[in-house]
Amino acid sequence: MSHGIVTVAYIGATILFILALGGLSTQETSRRGNLYGMTGMAIALLATLFGIVSDNYVLLFVGVIIGGAIGLMLAKKVQMTQMPELVAILHSLVGLAAVLVGFANFMDHSIMLSGVEKTIHDVETYLGILIGALTFSGSVVAFLKLSARISGKPMLLPFRHWLNLGMLVLAVWLCFTFIGQSATGGGTFPLLAMTVIALLFGVHMVMAIGGADMPVVISMLNSYSGWAAAATGFMLSNDLLIVVGALVGSSGAILSYIMCRAMNRNFISVIAGGFGTAEGQTAAPGEGEETGEVVPVEAAEVADMLLQAKEVMIIPGYGMAVAQAQHVVNDITRKLRDRKINVRFGIHPVAGRMPGHMNVLLAEAKVPYDIVFELDEINDDFPNVDVSVVVGANDIVNPAAQEVPNSPIAGMPVLECWKGKTTIVLKRSMATGYAGVANPLFYKENTRMLFGDARESLGAVLKQLD
Ligand code: TAP
Repeated sequence: MSHGIVTVAYIGATILFILALGGLSTQETSRRGNLYGMTGMAIALLATLFGIVSDNYVLLFVGVIIGGAIGLMLAKKVQMTQMPELVAILHSLVGLAAVLVGFANFMDHSIMLSGVEKTIHDVETYLGILIGALTFSGSVVAFLKLSARISGKPMLLPFRHWLNLGMLVLAVWLCFTFIGQSATGGGTFPLLAMTVIALLFGVHMVMAIGGADMPVVISMLNSYSGWAAAATGFMLSNDLLIVVGALVGSSGAILSYIMCRAMNRNFISVIAGGFGTAEGQTAAPGEGEETGEVVPVEAAEVADMLLQAKEVMIIPGYGMAVAQAQHVVNDITRKLRDRKINVRFGIHPVAGRMPGHMNVLLAEAKVPYDIVFELDEINDDFPNVDVSVVVGANDIVNPAAQEVPNSPIAGMPVLECWKGKTTIVLKRSMATGYAGVANPLFYKENTRMLFGDARESLGAVLKQLD
């Protein structure tokens, strides 16, 4: 394949990736967006395989087959609730690839450069390995936290900000040392030392993040994985990888910013770690706990309340994903709408375990898009709501965010369902949510608890609506 055809294919793929990002921004066009992305990736792969790679085909295809088979198996096996951890571990692979390419590039003595060109190449290699290593270790810790293999509580080391600053200064100093030594054929030690520091920094950064702030870290690691890919593109002089890496890097950065704004968090504070917790200690999870009474209800009573309501708000959370209750939620919605009851959905920006988690589930169950609203669009409407149904949500409806100043979720916007007439909370027990914070909502006078698995409970409610 000639160089010209590869360039044209790369430009085509780039345009398709940009269209994909545009398509993914609204629910109506997201399918088309995905299709553009898949086509772009297929073109990019074919152009690279037949236009750029010139030898070692056997090794390449064995790698593609093994990697592709593992990917296919994982994609078939993974549950919707495990998606965020899968995404985290996939980010770690991008980071690892950047590190490996960086070292391979450093050890490749066939690249003959000198002067400024050599310095630029060294800086590319250094930065690629640095971003790759911290993306790798940070994503592995995020994977462990999201899959509950380690505790989600923030680990706050004493003098952690100084520690971070120290690592940054050391990394900059090692960069100069590396460039100096590399000019005379050395540089292995500063490169290895920086890799260890970057790995430690990734672990430290993500370990220090409290449960409720994990969404920001996930989108940030997404962004880092893009920059790591772009750095790899520079090392390999591959234009497509540079552009695609930059697209992922910048869209991830924008997403992190949107997340921070939605959570009322300062971006720098989240990166520095331990936001919302006192210096050197985590806020007690039990704070904000109320000792009032909890009022359980049965499915028949819930059905009655719904039938008598004019305005119903459904608030889905992580528990809806666990219970796979989205289809029965849609069935109930249809029944109520047939009776001219106004049913709407209130979606919190960090509901579930990944951005857009609830929107995906509701779309899968064919809930109409025009009754699904973002937090800012409907939070003021709660005083007019007759019944709010909280389906397996906890942190996103926790009044402690407003009422308990030293709570780990203090300041985070929440759906103010308690301002409506009645709130029905569906969950299995009195357990806390992801952030590990007690929820005073359960003890409010106008709250009723429907205990049990959300799908089973809603199935029982649905039967009563017939
Ligand atoms: P959570 O606060 O985690 O609460 C989910 C609730 O669902 C739990 O209290 C649990 O109570 C209940 N539940 C679990 N399985 C259930 C089932 N089968 N049936 C009924 N209920 C069930 O979820 P949320 O309110 O959606 O808030 C999301 C949290 O995750 C936030 O803290 C957010 O920061 C964090 N987070 C979000 C993301 C993104 S990007 N969305 C990423 C990482 C972390 P029981 O055990 O008593 O049933």
